[in-house]
Amino acid sequence: MGDENDKYEAAQEQMKECDHRRNEDYCTNGGNSHNVAADDDEKCVTKKLKLSFITEAEIRQEFAHHQRGIARLNNGSFGSCPASIIAAQKVWQHKFLQQPDDFYVNHLQKGILCSRSVIKSLINADHVDEVSLVDNATTAAAIVLQHVGWAFAEGRFQKGDAVVMLHCAFQAVKKSIEAYVTRAGGSVIVVQLPFPVHSVEEIVAEFRKGLAKGKALGGRIRLAIIDHITSMPCVVIPVKELVTICREEGVERVFVDAAHAIGNVHIDVKEIGADFYVSNLHKWFFCPPAVAFLYCRKAPISSDLHHPVVSHEYGNGLAIESAWIGTRDYSSQLVVPEVLDFINRFDGGIEGVRKRNHDAVVQMGLMLAKAWGTRLGSPPEMCPSMAMIGLPPSLGLASDDDALYLRNHLRDTFSVEVPIHYQAQKDRQIGAKSNEEYATGYVRISHQVYNIQDDYIRLRDAINQLVHDGVTCNMLRKE
Ligand SMILES: Cc1ncc(COP(=O)(O)O)c(C=O)c1O
Repeated sequence: MGDENDKYEAAQEQMKECDHRRNEDYCTNGGNSHNVAADDDEKCVTKKLKLSFITEAEIRQEFAHHQRGIARLNNGSFGSCPASIIAAQKVWQHKFLQQPDDFYVNHLQKGILCSRSVIKSLINADHVDEVSLVDNATTAAAIVLQHVGWAFAEGRFQKGDAVVMLHCAFQAVKKSIEAYVTRAGGSVIVVQLPFPVHSVEEIVAEFRKGLAKGKALGGRIRLAIIDHITSMPCVVIPVKELVTICREEGVERVFVDAAHAIGNVHIDVKEIGADFYVSNLHKWFFCPPAVAFLYCRKAPISSDLHHPVVSHEYGNGLAIESAWIGTRDYSSQLVVPEVLDFINRFDGGIEGVRKRNHDAVVQMGLMLAKAWGTRLGSPPEMCPSMAMIGLPPSLGLASDDDALYLRNHLRDTFSVEVPIHYQAQKDRQIGAKSNEEYATGYVRISHQVYNIQDDYIRLRDAINQLVHDGVTCNMLRKE
């Protein structure tokens, strides 16, 4: 209890410093970000140079709330939030509960603007108005696809006009396409990507092929949705190259679903060149759930984008609409400056964390592949802070259900939390070069700063034990 109070008080102190930055001139314009000068944005971002970096013991403390005894190898799904940020979030929540009216009038919009400014600088956007904070990548997809749906409804798009997506697009995004595009008369072009994959060139070639097939159907391609990091199987996609191809081929708009990106891969939205780009902040950026940024290139369409929850600010631009969608807890959006301070406690800041995790996940992935006699699903440079590793074929993984049984068994029997991917036969044919690559199952491991080598050794030994005991997925099904 004393420990909790200490953390809360430390968070209050830290927030005073962040408040100081929030109260700099530009933040006192009542949330109207139109007058923000480029230099002003820096005030939210710059901070005194740290003299010492976070220690391993401090990292352990920051994640001491994680359930003990679990090898947590799945940062990718839900992310993680350090104790100091949970404490900072509590301070914001109390601030609201103590005096809601003062919070609403004097603090909320200023705080959200400051968070947007932090993100604007980190992703190299031109203007803070291009950055909106929303709940998650699912909400961002709904915003973009609803916009497409209206174009069909209002006669600007014709029946048969198409949206392009990757075959491994996230299920929620596929459903959004079904709800907003297919239902409105649009068609969907699915680009099949290879897995396992050996090079960026393979992806580029398959994408070109898929687009060409889609164009041959005759309708106009109104939107392409490209993942920056596919979820399952997990691969870093060469988004910049694919966006360039879309532009060359006359695709009207490009939406990059980068749900896993910030804190995981380097982001420069100007260099990538997409119209829309979303990343969750609760996956790899240490924010509490749930918050994401949606970048929308300012001209020419952003004024007609709307939040699906309509409230008082409708028509005032997506960023302002999104900053008030009715009474709710906005604390996860408000702690972004404190999160950046946390990240800057690591050598190299956000890039340092990213590199540290990438190097470690590749090292652990290679260790597992060697132990199991398999391979990584992609070359190391196409792994973010996650990696796919082939499972021993003797486990007989033959369906999505098998992947789930094995995952549950690893959790229940070995206290290992790791997602499993079933690679269907037809997909495996593309690009496969050796028998070693004909794994039907892959684990997707993550590495975040709290992981230790022992977590991966536990996974290695669990799988080795199953193989040694002659266990197959068929047997787990009958358990
Ligand atoms: C590629 C991709 N898109 C979208 C999402 C959805 O994220 P959220 O559930 O936070 O909306 C995820 C989640 O893992 C994802 O991996």
